[in-house]
Amino acid sequence: MPIVTIDGREVDVEVGTNLIEAAKQVGVQIPHYCYHPRLSVVGQCRMCLVKIDGPPKLQTACTTQIMKDGMVVHVDIPEVQEAQQGVMEFLLINHPLDCPICDQAGECGLQDYSFKHGQAFSRFVFEEKRTYPGRERIPLGPSVMLNMNRCIQCTRCIRFTEEISGTGELGFFQRGARTEIGVFPGKELDNPLSANVVDICPVGALTSSEFRFAERVWYLDKKPSICTGCDAGCNVTVEHKRGAIRRYKPRVNPEVNDYWLCDYGRQTFRRYSEFERLGTPAVRGAAGELRATNWEAALDRVHQGLARASEGADLAFLGSGFLTTEEAFLIARLADAADSEHRSVWSEEGPARFIPNLHGGVHGTETTPNRRGAELAGLLGTSGINAEDLMRGDGASRCDFLLITDGDPGSPLHDAEVIGRLRQVRFLVVLGWASTPLTEVADVVLPIATHAEKDGTFVNSQRRLQRFRAAFPAPAGVRSGVEALVDLLGRLGPEWQGLTTAQVFDRMAATVPAFAGMTFDSLPAHGTLLDTSGAVASGDSTEPEGAHP
Ligand code: SF4
Ligand code: SF4
Ligand code: FES
Repeated sequence: MPIVTIDGREVDVEVGTNLIEAAKQVGVQIPHYCYHPRLSVVGQCRMCLVKIDGPPKLQTACTTQIMKDGMVVHVDIPEVQEAQQGVMEFLLINHPLDCPICDQAGECGLQDYSFKHGQAFSRFVFEEKRTYPGRERIPLGPSVMLNMNRCIQCTRCIRFTEEISGTGELGFFQRGARTEIGVFPGKELDNPLSANVVDICPVGALTSSEFRFAERVWYLDKKPSICTGCDAGCNVTVEHKRGAIRRYKPRVNPEVNDYWLCDYGRQTFRRYSEFERLGTPAVRGAAGELRATNWEAALDRVHQGLARASEGADLAFLGSGFLTTEEAFLIARLADAADSEHRSVWSEEGPARFIPNLHGGVHGTETTPNRRGAELAGLLGTSGINAEDLMRGDGASRCDFLLITDGDPGSPLHDAEVIGRLRQVRFLVVLGWASTPLTEVADVVLPIATHAEKDGTFVNSQRRLQRFRAAFPAPAGVRSGVEALVDLLGRLGPEWQGLTTAQVFDRMAATVPAFAGMTFDSLPAHGTLLDTSGAVASGDSTEPEGAHP
């Protein structure tokens, strides 16, 4: 591999690597606007000028590929700094500098580079700036708003719609200093990936119609997590203010979602504010009313329900595709303790989702993120009463005991007929985070954490096992599913008492072949592909190479 020297630091890189990427490898930041690692290189903004030994003039780092040994590059020298200041001065001549009312403030490439690479004055003495009257608040589509005054004409958004979403709604219109961004006549920016242009716009020209003015970004805490919108398993950053999620942003995982998220997935955190939150365990009293109680009393009641299920009676365990793999493993152990084969996972097929990446992309086909993980962990009964029998048949009427995890309310659990069928069971336990028609008819309700409040793993449609951690603590009175289930299993045997999610995973890895040799804390950041060797019975597909919607 060719060796290049950047600011005195040697690095060997793949042939064809450009100078921006090579510099990153030795911790040198070359400022850039128009360059994005997944878009074609246009060399348009001139922000990435560097000095290369040999050529007389400064060169753009984004367009300079390293093909052979010996290139010597200078970034931190006065000649380059002067060029950077010059480019910033030009960019700011016409910029409105309306940071106090701009949604991008706090995460703006223009602010950051002005601070690092600009200067504190301008030689441009005219008061009049070029503006685009009437083009300050233009909805380009349902998710994206344009303020043309702030655009620096980097064309990232245009290239995204041409090269990534493949929809081509955006283009440049007019010429010279009047050049502006817009949608082609008769089109709007309305494709499943449209909001990604907001993420890649380096300034506040493109903002999110949903997030606009909702929060100042410096008030947000940011934690890595996984989208639960479907089984593609896109990596997200949860941005929240004291436990109230304000937005999801894509978190780079080249093996899954690369730099992108779909518009649907970005909005899925809203389900957490659509329903009333369960805050305390509840048990049904002698008079038939649900009354609040403490965790000990509620778990004792479940334990009694399990124990009282008469000899030879049917006990069923219905998991959801929103369970973490560890929670599913613990429910499967409960089913083992009850000697029950009636265990299954409910997950609905959903609208097809697709996220492109360098390997082609990832498809999401289910409405839940972890049906595969829950089944692998032991909730795939080979015989007995299954999810279909319970939801659409008379399975519940044949059971003495039914434990349902209603982690995120799926549509059937709001259907009176389905609830009527489930309620035919003698003793109904529901674990969930939301108050729903199902929790209202349960004998015991256990309030558990949302996925943003707990640690765990999901297995996506590629069979990639991915770990996530709690973004913020659950409210008082609410436990993670693992805490609740470990406490319940602890009543059946001491070996489960007090286990953490990591310890549950490690115990699962010791017994479930698909996870053999893994530990929770050593799972790779980008996840790991499971060798399931046909262990997952249904609904799996391999990703077609080069597929694109
Ligand atoms: S709207 Fe944003 S991404 Fe598009 S050209 Fe202007 S600055 Fe670049
Ligand atoms: S494709 Fe699925 S996992 Fe990815 S962002 Fe969309 S809904 Fe979320
Ligand atoms: S990043 Fe190189 S010219 Fe824009």
